[in-house]
Amino acid sequence: MTQTPTSADTSKTFRETVLVTGGAGFIGAHYVPWAAAAHPETRFVDLDLLTYAADTGAFSEQAKLPNVVPVIGDITDETLVAKIFEEMDVTGVIHFAAESHVDNSIADPLTFIRTNVEGTAVLLRAARDAWTKRGTLETSRFHHVSTDEVFGSLGFTGFFTEETPHAPNSPYSASKAASEHLVRAWRETYGMNTSITNCSNNYGPRQHGEKLIPTVIRKALAKEPIPIYGTGRNIRDWLWVEDHCRAVDLVFREAAPASAYVVGGRCEKSTIEMAEAVCAVLDEMTPWVGHRHAELMTLVADRPGHDFRYAISPEKIERDLGWRPTMAFDEGIRRTVAWYLGEGRGRLLAV
Ligand SMILES: NC(=O)c1ccc[n+]([C@@H]2O[C@H](COP(=O)([O-])OP(=O)(O)OC[C@H]3O[C@@H](n4cnc5c(N)ncnc54)[C@H](O)[C@@H]3O)[C@@H](O)[C@H]2O)c1
Repeated sequence: MTQTPTSADTSKTFRETVLVTGGAGFIGAHYVPWAAAAHPETRFVDLDLLTYAADTGAFSEQAKLPNVVPVIGDITDETLVAKIFEEMDVTGVIHFAAESHVDNSIADPLTFIRTNVEGTAVLLRAARDAWTKRGTLETSRFHHVSTDEVFGSLGFTGFFTEETPHAPNSPYSASKAASEHLVRAWRETYGMNTSITNCSNNYGPRQHGEKLIPTVIRKALAKEPIPIYGTGRNIRDWLWVEDHCRAVDLVFREAAPASAYVVGGRCEKSTIEMAEAVCAVLDEMTPWVGHRHAELMTLVADRPGHDFRYAISPEKIERDLGWRPTMAFDEGIRRTVAWYLGEGRGRLLAV
C-alpha cells in the first residue's frame, strides 16, 4: 500500500473511518476537504489510483488535513483493499472512483468494465467480509455514487426518478449500471446496508480538461474551433459540484438502508446553451477584441449512442432529506470560468 505522507493525527481516536474512493477526481476533490471540515470526528481514507483524470495537487492538499489519510492504490487490487478494511477499521464507504469519460469508454470499453464493475465488486466483497467479521454488516453503510446516464435518454418531456428503469446506451453508462446491480445484489443476498445516488452532470472548478466546459474554455482561449457534437441540441441537467457533494453526504449519513435518490439541479441546458454561457463569461473576463468567443463554436460529427436528454426530478431527496441545490447557474459558471483562468490553468491544459 502506498500511503502518502499525511498529517492525520494517528494518536487521536476518531469516531468512525470512512473509505472514500476516487477522492482526487473532480467530485472527490471537492467532497474530501469539505467533508473533512464538516465531520472533524471522522477519519477519511482516500483511496485513489491517481490516473490521468486525477487532480494530484488536490490530493497533496488533502494530505495536510488532520483527518485525511490519502492512499495511492487501485480499487481492483483485492489484497490492498482487504488490507485497508482490516488495518484502518473502515466503518463506511463512499465510492466515487470510476473511469468517467464517455468518449474514452467508446474507444476503450474494457478499462471501464475493470474499474467500474470489477472495482465495485472488489470493494463490496471486502466491505462485506470485514463488516461480517465485526458484526456491523447492518449498520456500516456502503454508498455508491452513480449517474443519471444509467437511465438512458429522455425525449423532450419527462424526468428521471428513482423508479426509472436502467437503459444504458454507452459502455460508460452500462458499466455504471452494472456496478449498481452489484450493489443491489450485495444488499439482497448478503444484507448489506447500501445507498445509491444517481446524479446529473456536475460543473465547477477542478474538472479534467477533457470534459465539455474546460474544452470550451481551452479552445476559446486558443482561438480554435470549439467542437460541439451533432446539432448541439442535446440537453443535460447541470448541478454545481458542491451541491452534489452535500447530497452524497446527506444520503450516506441519513437515508434509510437500501435507499436510492436521484439528484439534479433543475437546470436544463443544451450543449449550445452551455457553450454560449461559458463564452459569454470569457467575453467579459478575457475580451477578444472585435469578436465573441461563441463565434468559434463548430458542429462536429455526433458521438455514437449520444443520449438526447437527461433531466432529474429531485423531489424525493428534497422531501425526505431537505436537500436543495444552492448555487444559481450564472454565479456557478462565473466561478468555474474564473478558476480555469487563474489557479486552474494547469488542469485546463491536462488533456
Ligand atoms: N462528473 C459528473 O458530472 C458525474 C455525474 C454523476 C455521477 N458521477 C460519478 O461520480 C463519480 C466521480 O466522478 P468524477 O467526475 O469525479 O470522475 P473523475 O474521472 O474526475 O475522477 C475519478 C477518480 O477516480 C480515480 N480512479 C480511477 N480508476 C481508479 C482505480 N482503479 N482505483 C482507484 N481510483 C481510481 C481517478 O484517479 C480519479 O481521481 C464517478 O463514479 C462518476 O460516475 C459523475
